[in-house]
Amino acid sequence: MKKVITYGTFDLFHEGHYRLLQRAKQLGDYLIVGVTTEEYDQTRGKLNVVDSLMTRIENVKKSGFVDEVIIESAQGQKFRDIKKYQIDVFTVGSDWVGQFDYLKEYCEVVYLERTRDISSTMLREQGRHILRVGIIGTGRIAERFIPEAKLVSGLNTQGVYNPHVDSAKRFAERWSIDSYASLEKFYAAVDAVYIASPHETHYEYIKSALEHGKHVICEKPMVLQRMQAEELFALAKRQNRILFEGVKTAYCPGFNKLMGIACSGMIGNIRNIEACFTKLESLASRELTDIKYGGSFTELGSYVLLPIIKLLGCDYQQVRFDVIRGENELDLFTKASFVYPNGLATATCGLGVKSEGRLLISGTKGYIVAEAPWWKTSYFEVHHENPSDVEKFSDRFLGDGLRYELSDFLSTINGNRESDFMLSRGESIALAELMERFLREHRCMSERDHLGN
Ligand code: CTP
Repeated sequence: MKKVITYGTFDLFHEGHYRLLQRAKQLGDYLIVGVTTEEYDQTRGKLNVVDSLMTRIENVKKSGFVDEVIIESAQGQKFRDIKKYQIDVFTVGSDWVGQFDYLKEYCEVVYLERTRDISSTMLREQGRHILRVGIIGTGRIAERFIPEAKLVSGLNTQGVYNPHVDSAKRFAERWSIDSYASLEKFYAAVDAVYIASPHETHYEYIKSALEHGKHVICEKPMVLQRMQAEELFALAKRQNRILFEGVKTAYCPGFNKLMGIACSGMIGNIRNIEACFTKLESLASRELTDIKYGGSFTELGSYVLLPIIKLLGCDYQQVRFDVIRGENELDLFTKASFVYPNGLATATCGLGVKSEGRLLISGTKGYIVAEAPWWKTSYFEVHHENPSDVEKFSDRFLGDGLRYELSDFLSTINGNRESDFMLSRGESIALAELMERFLREHRCMSERDHLGN
Protein backbone atom coordinates (compact mmCIF):
# COMPACT_ATOMS: atom_id res chain seq x y z
CA MET A 1 0.00 0.00 0.00
CA LYS A 2 1.39 3.41 -1.00
CA LYS A 3 1.05 5.95 1.82
CA VAL A 4 0.83 9.69 1.15
CA ILE A 5 1.02 12.54 3.68
CA THR A 6 0.26 16.27 3.43
CA TYR A 7 -0.08 19.12 5.90
CA GLY A 8 -1.88 22.43 6.19
CA THR A 9 -4.04 24.78 8.23
CA PHE A 10 -7.10 24.34 5.98
CA ASP A 11 -8.75 27.44 7.35
CA LEU A 12 -12.04 28.49 5.67
CA PHE A 13 -11.86 25.31 3.57
CA HIS A 14 -11.82 26.27 -0.11
CA GLU A 15 -11.48 24.89 -3.60
CA GLY A 16 -7.67 25.04 -3.48
CA HIS A 17 -7.69 22.74 -0.44
CA TYR A 18 -10.19 20.38 -2.07
CA ARG A 19 -8.16 20.05 -5.27
CA LEU A 20 -4.94 19.58 -3.33
CA LEU A 21 -6.41 16.73 -1.30
CA GLN A 22 -7.96 15.15 -4.40
CA ARG A 23 -4.61 15.05 -6.19
CA ALA A 24 -2.74 14.00 -3.05
CA LYS A 25 -5.00 10.97 -2.74
CA GLN A 26 -4.33 10.07 -6.39
CA LEU A 27 -0.60 9.83 -5.59
CA GLY A 28 -1.17 6.65 -3.56
CA ASP A 29 -3.66 4.42 -1.76
CA TYR A 30 -3.81 5.88 1.72
CA LEU A 31 -3.84 9.63 2.53
CA ILE A 32 -2.86 11.06 5.91
CA VAL A 33 -3.46 14.79 6.50
CA GLY A 34 -1.74 16.76 9.27
CA VAL A 35 -3.86 19.70 10.40
CA THR A 36 -2.02 22.42 12.34
CA THR A 37 -2.96 23.38 15.89
CA GLU A 38 -3.69 27.00 16.74
CA GLU A 39 -0.59 27.19 18.92
CA TYR A 40 1.64 25.94 16.12
CA ASP A 41 0.11 28.41 13.68
CA GLN A 42 0.77 31.21 16.13
CA THR A 43 4.46 30.33 16.26
CA ARG A 44 4.45 30.52 12.46
CA GLY A 45 2.90 33.98 12.62
CA LYS A 46 -0.58 32.89 11.48
CA LEU A 47 -2.53 34.63 14.17
CA ASN A 48 -5.90 35.17 12.61
CA VAL A 49 -7.04 31.71 11.71
CA VAL A 50 -10.85 31.83 11.82
CA ASP A 51 -11.96 28.19 12.07
CA SER A 52 -11.31 26.14 15.18
CA LEU A 53 -9.13 23.04 14.93
CA MET A 54 -12.25 20.86 15.14
CA THR A 55 -13.96 22.63 12.26
CA ARG A 56 -10.84 22.46 10.13
CA ILE A 57 -10.48 18.72 10.78
CA GLU A 58 -14.15 18.14 9.97
CA ASN A 59 -13.82 20.02 6.69
CA VAL A 60 -10.74 18.04 5.70
CA LYS A 61 -12.62 14.78 6.44
CA LYS A 62 -15.70 15.96 4.54
CA SER A 63 -13.64 16.25 1.35
CA GLY A 64 -13.91 12.44 1.20
CA PHE A 65 -10.28 11.92 0.13
CA VAL A 66 -8.72 11.46 3.52
CA ASP A 67 -8.06 8.15 5.29
CA GLU A 68 -6.55 9.53 8.48
CA VAL A 69 -6.18 12.94 10.11
CA ILE A 70 -3.36 13.76 12.51
CA ILE A 71 -2.45 16.95 14.34
CA GLU A 72 0.64 18.96 13.49
CA SER A 73 1.75 20.77 16.61
CA ALA A 74 5.48 21.36 16.30
CA GLN A 75 8.27 22.18 13.95
CA GLY A 76 10.29 19.13 12.96
CA GLN A 77 7.29 16.85 13.26
CA LYS A 78 7.07 16.05 9.53
CA PHE A 79 10.27 14.06 9.53
CA ARG A 80 9.15 12.04 12.57
CA ASP A 81 5.70 11.37 11.05
CA ILE A 82 7.24 10.10 7.83
CA LYS A 83 9.18 7.47 9.75
CA LYS A 84 6.37 6.68 12.16
CA TYR A 85 3.69 6.17 9.48
CA GLN A 86 6.11 4.66 6.92
CA ILE A 87 5.21 7.26 4.33
CA ASP A 88 6.06 6.82 0.65
CA VAL A 89 5.08 10.26 -0.67
CA PHE A 90 5.13 13.65 0.98
CA THR A 91 3.17 16.32 -0.88
CA VAL A 92 2.23 20.00 -0.55
CA GLY A 93 1.25 22.84 -2.85
CA SER A 94 3.70 24.55 -5.17
CA ASP A 95 3.87 27.61 -2.91
CA TRP A 96 6.34 25.50 -0.92
CA VAL A 97 8.59 24.40 -3.82
CA GLY A 98 12.06 23.51 -2.57
CA GLN A 99 11.25 23.97 1.07
CA PHE A 100 10.77 20.29 1.81
CA ASP A 101 13.52 18.86 -0.38
CA TYR A 102 15.33 17.79 2.79
CA LEU A 103 12.67 15.06 3.17
CA LYS A 104 13.76 13.44 -0.13
CA GLU A 105 16.17 11.31 1.87
CA TYR A 106 13.22 9.54 3.46
CA CYS A 107 10.45 9.49 0.83
CA GLU A 108 9.33 10.91 -2.50
CA VAL A 109 8.51 14.65 -2.35
CA VAL A 110 5.87 16.01 -4.74
CA TYR A 111 4.89 19.68 -5.10
CA LEU A 112 1.38 19.90 -6.56
CA GLU A 113 0.48 22.96 -8.52
CA ARG A 114 -1.37 25.45 -6.37
CA THR A 115 -4.89 26.43 -7.47
CA ARG A 116 -4.81 30.00 -8.68
CA ASP A 117 -6.57 33.00 -7.15
CA ILE A 118 -7.78 31.46 -3.95
CA SER A 119 -6.30 31.25 -0.44
CA SER A 120 -7.47 31.32 3.16
CA THR A 121 -5.74 34.67 3.56
CA MET A 122 -7.79 36.08 0.66
CA LEU A 123 -11.01 34.76 2.16
CA ARG A 124 -10.15 36.05 5.62
CA GLU A 125 -9.54 39.46 4.16
CA GLN A 126 -12.63 39.53 2.00
CA GLY A 127 -14.96 39.54 4.99
CA ARG A 128 -13.08 42.34 6.68
CA HIS A 129 -10.93 44.76 4.87
CA ILE A 130 -7.41 45.34 6.09
CA LEU A 131 -7.38 47.54 9.17
CA ARG A 132 -5.11 50.52 8.57
CA VAL A 133 -3.48 51.49 11.84
CA GLY A 134 -1.70 54.74 12.54
CA ILE A 135 0.73 55.30 15.40
CA ILE A 136 0.77 58.39 17.58
CA GLY A 137 4.14 58.79 19.27
CA THR A 138 7.54 57.56 18.20
CA GLY A 139 9.22 56.35 21.40
CA ARG A 140 10.64 52.95 22.35
CA ILE A 141 7.31 51.19 22.56
CA ALA A 142 6.26 52.43 19.12
CA GLU A 143 9.44 50.85 17.74
CA ARG A 144 8.27 47.50 19.09
CA PHE A 145 4.83 47.91 17.64
CA ILE A 146 5.67 47.62 13.95
CA PRO A 147 7.43 44.22 13.91
CA GLU A 148 4.69 42.82 16.14
CA ALA A 149 1.90 44.29 14.00
CA LYS A 150 3.44 42.63 10.93
CA LEU A 151 2.61 39.26 12.46
CA VAL A 152 -1.09 40.00 12.73
CA SER A 153 -2.65 39.36 9.36
CA GLY A 154 -5.43 41.75 8.43
CA LEU A 155 -3.65 44.70 9.96
CA ASN A 156 -1.38 47.19 8.25
CA THR A 157 0.68 49.94 9.83
CA GLN A 158 -0.16 52.90 7.68
CA GLY A 159 1.60 55.89 9.12
CA VAL A 160 2.79 57.82 12.11
CA TYR A 161 1.98 61.15 13.71
CA ASN A 162 4.09 63.11 16.12
CA PRO A 163 3.80 66.87 16.71
CA HIS A 164 7.61 66.86 16.49
CA VAL A 165 7.63 66.53 12.73
CA ASP A 166 11.30 65.53 12.47
CA SER A 167 10.84 62.61 14.87
CA ALA A 168 7.85 61.42 12.87
CA LYS A 169 9.82 61.67 9.61
CA ARG A 170 12.79 59.75 10.97
CA PHE A 171 10.52 57.06 12.38
CA ALA A 172 8.56 56.79 9.13
CA GLU A 173 11.74 56.44 7.05
CA ARG A 174 13.08 53.74 9.33
CA TRP A 175 9.94 51.65 8.93
CA SER A 176 8.94 52.63 5.39
CA ILE A 177 5.58 54.08 6.41
CA ASP A 178 4.03 57.53 5.89
CA SER A 179 4.48 60.40 8.32
CA TYR A 180 1.91 63.11 8.89
CA ALA A 181 2.42 66.62 10.17
CA SER A 182 -1.33 67.23 10.41
CA LEU A 183 -3.51 65.23 12.75
CA GLU A 184 -6.51 65.65 10.43
CA LYS A 185 -4.65 64.16 7.46
CA PHE A 186 -3.37 61.37 9.68
CA TYR A 187 -6.91 60.46 10.81
CA ALA A 188 -8.12 60.55 7.22
CA ALA A 189 -5.57 57.87 6.28
CA VAL A 190 -6.31 55.33 9.04
CA ASP A 191 -9.12 53.21 10.53
CA ALA A 192 -7.57 52.76 13.96
CA VAL A 193 -4.99 54.44 16.12
CA TYR A 194 -2.30 53.04 18.41
CA ILE A 195 -1.36 55.64 21.01
CA ALA A 196 2.15 55.44 22.41
CA SER A 197 2.71 59.09 23.33
CA PRO A 198 3.56 60.34 26.86
CA HIS A 199 0.96 59.33 29.50
CA GLU A 200 -0.51 62.77 30.05
CA THR A 201 -1.32 63.21 26.34
CA HIS A 202 -3.36 60.00 26.05
CA TYR A 203 -6.70 61.48 27.07
CA GLU A 204 -6.75 64.20 24.38
CA TYR A 205 -5.56 61.87 21.64
CA ILE A 206 -8.06 59.14 22.50
CA LYS A 207 -10.87 61.68 22.58
CA SER A 208 -10.00 63.21 19.24
CA ALA A 209 -9.42 59.82 17.59
CA LEU A 210 -12.81 58.54 18.76
CA GLU A 211 -14.47 61.77 17.66
CA HIS A 212 -12.97 61.17 14.22
CA GLY A 213 -14.55 57.71 14.21
CA LYS A 214 -11.34 55.74 14.78
CA HIS A 215 -10.89 52.63 16.89
CA VAL A 216 -8.25 53.13 19.57
CA ILE A 217 -5.70 51.00 21.34
CA CYS A 218 -3.77 53.02 23.89
CA GLU A 219 -0.67 52.12 25.86
CA LYS A 220 -0.98 51.79 29.63
CA PRO A 221 -1.75 53.72 31.74
CA MET A 222 -4.56 54.67 29.38
CA VAL A 223 -5.59 57.70 31.42
CA LEU A 224 -4.77 59.04 34.85
CA GLN A 225 -8.28 59.79 36.14
CA ARG A 226 -11.35 57.67 36.67
CA MET A 227 -13.68 60.24 35.14
CA GLN A 228 -11.62 60.42 31.99
CA ALA A 229 -11.75 56.65 31.55
CA GLU A 230 -15.53 56.64 32.08
CA GLU A 231 -16.01 59.50 29.66
CA LEU A 232 -13.88 57.89 26.96
CA PHE A 233 -15.55 54.48 27.20
CA ALA A 234 -18.94 56.20 26.97
CA LEU A 235 -17.74 58.15 23.93
CA ALA A 236 -16.44 54.95 22.29
CA LYS A 237 -19.84 53.37 22.84
CA ARG A 238 -21.67 56.33 21.31
CA GLN A 239 -19.34 56.32 18.35
CA ASN A 240 -19.66 52.55 18.03
CA ARG A 241 -15.87 52.21 18.16
CA ILE A 242 -13.56 49.93 20.12
CA LEU A 243 -11.35 51.39 22.84
CA PHE A 244 -8.67 49.09 24.30
CA GLU A 245 -6.14 49.70 27.04
CA GLY A 246 -2.94 47.98 25.97
CA VAL A 247 -1.64 46.26 29.08
CA LYS A 248 0.08 43.47 27.17
CA THR A 249 -0.01 40.98 30.04
CA ALA A 250 -3.81 41.00 30.02
CA TYR A 251 -3.95 39.56 26.50
CA CYS A 252 -1.17 36.98 26.59
CA PRO A 253 -2.20 33.29 26.57
CA GLY A 254 -0.13 32.27 29.62
CA PHE A 255 -1.59 34.98 31.82
CA ASN A 256 -5.10 34.08 30.73
CA LYS A 257 -4.45 30.46 31.58
CA LEU A 258 -3.14 31.55 34.99
CA MET A 259 -6.23 33.70 35.63
CA GLY A 260 -8.47 30.81 34.55
CA ILE A 261 -6.79 28.41 36.97
CA ALA A 262 -6.90 30.95 39.79
CA CYS A 263 -10.65 31.37 39.24
CA SER A 264 -11.30 27.66 38.80
CA GLY A 265 -11.24 26.84 42.50
CA MET A 266 -8.05 24.80 42.14
CA ILE A 267 -6.44 26.83 44.96
CA GLY A 268 -9.74 27.39 46.79
CA ASN A 269 -10.86 30.93 47.57
CA ILE A 270 -8.28 33.58 46.83
CA ARG A 271 -7.19 35.39 49.98
CA ASN A 272 -3.90 37.11 49.21
CA ILE A 273 -2.10 38.38 46.11
CA GLU A 274 1.43 39.72 45.95
CA ALA A 275 2.61 41.10 42.64
CA CYS A 276 6.04 42.65 42.14
CA PHE A 277 7.75 44.07 39.05
CA THR A 278 10.96 46.10 39.18
CA LYS A 279 13.08 47.36 36.32
CA LEU A 280 16.11 49.52 37.08
CA GLU A 281 16.22 52.71 35.03
CA SER A 282 18.94 55.34 34.86
CA LEU A 283 18.27 58.38 37.05
CA ALA A 284 18.55 60.45 33.87
CA SER A 285 15.83 58.49 32.06
CA ARG A 286 12.52 60.02 31.03
CA GLU A 287 10.78 57.72 33.53
CA LEU A 288 12.75 59.16 36.44
CA THR A 289 12.96 62.79 35.38
CA ASP A 290 9.40 63.58 34.28
CA ILE A 291 8.46 65.25 37.56
CA LYS A 292 4.74 65.29 36.90
CA TYR A 293 4.00 61.90 35.39
CA GLY A 294 7.15 59.81 35.70
CA GLY A 295 8.07 57.43 38.52
CA SER A 296 7.62 53.75 39.26
CA PHE A 297 3.89 53.59 39.77
CA THR A 298 2.76 55.34 36.60
CA GLU A 299 5.30 53.31 34.63
CA LEU A 300 4.81 49.82 36.06
CA GLY A 301 1.72 50.05 38.27
CA SER A 302 -0.66 48.75 35.57
CA TYR A 303 1.13 45.40 35.49
CA VAL A 304 1.14 44.76 39.22
CA LEU A 305 -2.42 46.00 39.73
CA LEU A 306 -3.75 43.83 36.92
CA PRO A 307 -3.93 40.41 38.68
CA ILE A 308 -5.31 42.06 41.82
CA ILE A 309 -8.11 43.92 40.05
CA LYS A 310 -8.91 40.90 37.88
CA LEU A 311 -9.10 38.40 40.74
CA LEU A 312 -10.22 40.41 43.77
CA GLY A 313 -12.25 42.99 41.88
CA CYS A 314 -12.60 46.74 42.05
CA ASP A 315 -14.38 46.97 45.42
CA TYR A 316 -11.47 47.18 47.80
CA GLN A 317 -12.15 48.72 51.23
CA GLN A 318 -8.79 50.41 51.56
CA VAL A 319 -5.73 51.14 49.51
CA ARG A 320 -2.54 52.62 50.91
CA PHE A 321 0.55 53.68 48.99
CA ASP A 322 3.99 53.57 50.63
CA VAL A 323 6.73 55.16 48.64
CA ILE A 324 10.50 55.53 48.54
CA ARG A 325 11.35 58.76 46.77
CA GLY A 326 14.39 59.95 44.87
CA GLU A 327 15.94 63.40 45.24
CA ASN A 328 13.48 64.88 42.77
CA GLU A 329 10.57 63.42 44.79
CA LEU A 330 9.62 60.86 42.14
CA ASP A 331 8.85 57.37 43.47
CA LEU A 332 11.76 54.98 43.00
CA PHE A 333 9.79 52.19 44.67
CA THR A 334 6.10 51.94 45.53
CA LYS A 335 3.94 49.49 47.42
CA ALA A 336 0.18 49.67 47.09
CA SER A 337 -1.50 47.67 49.87
CA PHE A 338 -5.13 46.67 49.50
CA VAL A 339 -7.67 45.45 51.99
CA TYR A 340 -10.72 43.63 50.56
CA PRO A 341 -13.63 42.21 52.57
CA ASN A 342 -12.12 38.73 52.19
CA GLY A 343 -8.60 39.27 51.10
CA LEU A 344 -5.39 41.25 51.03
CA ALA A 345 -3.07 42.29 48.24
CA THR A 346 0.12 44.19 47.58
CA ALA A 347 1.27 45.62 44.28
CA THR A 348 4.97 46.50 44.36
CA CYS A 349 6.94 48.20 41.64
CA GLY A 350 10.26 49.96 41.32
CA LEU A 351 12.48 51.74 38.83
CA GLY A 352 15.18 52.56 41.39
CA VAL A 353 15.09 49.53 43.74
CA LYS A 354 15.57 45.96 42.53
CA SER A 355 13.51 43.17 43.98
CA GLU A 356 12.37 39.69 43.09
CA GLY A 357 9.68 40.01 40.45
CA ARG A 358 7.06 37.47 41.33
CA LEU A 359 3.33 36.90 41.30
CA LEU A 360 1.98 34.90 44.23
CA ILE A 361 -1.71 34.11 44.57
CA SER A 362 -2.67 32.41 47.82
CA GLY A 363 -5.90 30.56 48.36
CA THR A 364 -7.61 28.39 50.94
CA LYS A 365 -6.44 25.19 49.21
CA GLY A 366 -3.10 26.14 47.68
CA TYR A 367 -1.16 28.83 45.90
CA ILE A 368 -0.03 29.81 42.42
CA VAL A 369 3.42 31.20 41.85
CA ALA A 370 4.87 32.73 38.71
CA GLU A 371 8.42 34.03 38.70
CA ALA A 372 9.77 36.99 36.75
CA PRO A 373 8.99 37.85 34.06
CA TRP A 374 5.48 36.77 35.07
CA TRP A 375 4.15 39.84 33.21
CA LYS A 376 5.14 37.93 30.04
CA THR A 377 3.67 34.76 31.49
CA SER A 378 5.13 31.58 30.07
CA TYR A 379 5.40 29.36 33.16
CA PHE A 380 3.73 29.01 36.57
CA GLU A 381 3.17 26.43 39.26
CA VAL A 382 0.28 25.44 41.48
CA HIS A 383 1.25 24.20 44.95
CA HIS A 384 -0.80 22.52 47.65
CA GLU A 385 -0.30 21.60 51.32
CA ASN A 386 1.71 18.53 50.36
CA PRO A 387 4.98 20.06 49.07
CA SER A 388 5.45 17.35 46.47
CA ASP A 389 2.03 18.03 44.98
CA VAL A 390 3.08 20.62 42.37
CA GLU A 391 1.40 21.15 39.01
CA LYS A 392 3.36 22.94 36.32
CA PHE A 393 1.85 24.96 33.51
CA SER A 394 3.46 26.59 30.54
CA ASP A 395 2.37 28.56 27.53
CA ARG A 396 4.01 30.58 24.81
CA PHE A 397 4.91 34.22 25.04
CA LEU A 398 6.33 35.26 21.72
CA GLY A 399 8.41 38.31 20.88
CA ASP A 400 7.40 41.49 22.67
CA GLY A 401 3.88 40.19 23.19
CA LEU A 402 2.08 43.09 21.51
CA ARG A 403 0.83 40.65 18.86
CA TYR A 404 -1.67 39.22 21.34
CA GLU A 405 -3.38 42.49 22.19
CA LEU A 406 -3.35 43.54 18.53
CA SER A 407 -4.84 40.26 17.42
CA ASP A 408 -7.57 40.61 20.04
CA PHE A 409 -8.15 44.25 19.10
CA LEU A 410 -8.63 43.24 15.47
CA SER A 411 -10.93 40.33 16.33
CA THR A 412 -13.06 42.61 18.51
CA ILE A 413 -13.34 45.21 15.73
CA ASN A 414 -14.33 42.46 13.29
CA GLY A 415 -16.95 41.21 15.73
CA ASN A 416 -15.34 37.79 16.08
CA ARG A 417 -15.09 37.88 19.85
CA GLU A 418 -18.19 37.11 21.78
CA SER A 419 -16.77 37.26 25.28
CA ASP A 420 -16.02 40.43 27.18
CA PHE A 421 -12.73 42.20 26.59
CA MET A 422 -9.76 40.45 28.17
CA LEU A 423 -9.25 43.69 30.05
CA SER A 424 -12.78 44.87 30.75
CA ARG A 425 -13.89 48.48 30.75
CA GLY A 426 -14.58 48.22 34.50
CA GLU A 427 -11.04 46.96 35.09
CA SER A 428 -9.53 49.75 32.99
CA ILE A 429 -11.59 52.30 34.90
CA ALA A 430 -10.36 50.83 38.20
CA LEU A 431 -6.76 51.13 36.98
CA ALA A 432 -7.33 54.78 36.08
CA GLU A 433 -8.82 55.46 39.52
CA LEU A 434 -5.76 53.96 41.23
CA MET A 435 -3.42 56.10 39.10
CA GLU A 436 -5.48 59.14 40.04
CA ARG A 437 -5.37 58.33 43.76
CA PHE A 438 -1.67 57.73 43.66
CA LEU A 439 -0.90 60.96 41.83
CA ARG A 440 -3.15 62.96 44.13
CA GLU A 441 -1.59 61.59 47.29
CA HIS A 442 2.00 61.40 46.18
CA ARG A 443 2.72 64.03 43.63
CA CYS A 444 1.65 66.83 45.96
CA MET A 445 -0.26 68.28 43.03
CA SER A 446 -2.96 70.77 43.62
CA GLU A 447 -6.39 69.66 42.48
CA ARG A 448 -6.42 72.33 39.76
CA ASP A 449 -3.00 71.36 38.55
CA HIS A 450 -3.99 67.73 38.28
CA LEU A 451 -7.30 68.24 36.60
CA GLY A 452 -5.82 70.66 34.12
CA ASN A 453 -3.25 68.26 32.70
N1 CTP B 1 -3.26 25.07 -1.49
C1 CTP B 1 -3.42 24.93 -2.89
N2 CTP B 1 -4.05 25.93 -3.59
C2 CTP B 1 -4.52 27.05 -2.96
C3 CTP B 1 -4.37 27.19 -1.57
C4 CTP B 1 -3.73 26.18 -0.86
O1 CTP B 1 -3.03 23.95 -3.48
N3 CTP B 1 -5.08 28.00 -3.70
C5 CTP B 1 -2.58 24.03 -0.74
C6 CTP B 1 -1.31 24.52 -0.04
O2 CTP B 1 -0.22 24.61 -0.93
C7 CTP B 1 -1.13 23.46 1.04
C8 CTP B 1 -2.57 23.08 1.41
O3 CTP B 1 -3.39 23.57 0.31
O4 CTP B 1 -0.46 22.33 0.51
C9 CTP B 1 -3.01 23.70 2.71
O5 CTP B 1 -2.71 25.06 2.64
P1 CTP B 1 -3.09 26.20 3.68
O6 CTP B 1 -1.85 26.90 4.09
O7 CTP B 1 -3.98 25.66 4.73
O8 CTP B 1 -4.00 27.14 2.71
P2 CTP B 1 -3.83 28.61 2.22
O9 CTP B 1 -5.09 28.99 1.51
O10 CTP B 1 -2.55 28.77 1.44
O11 CTP B 1 -3.75 29.37 3.60
P3 CTP B 1 -3.10 30.80 3.99
O12 CTP B 1 -3.64 31.79 3.03
O13 CTP B 1 -3.54 31.00 5.42
O14 CTP B 1 -1.60 30.60 3.88
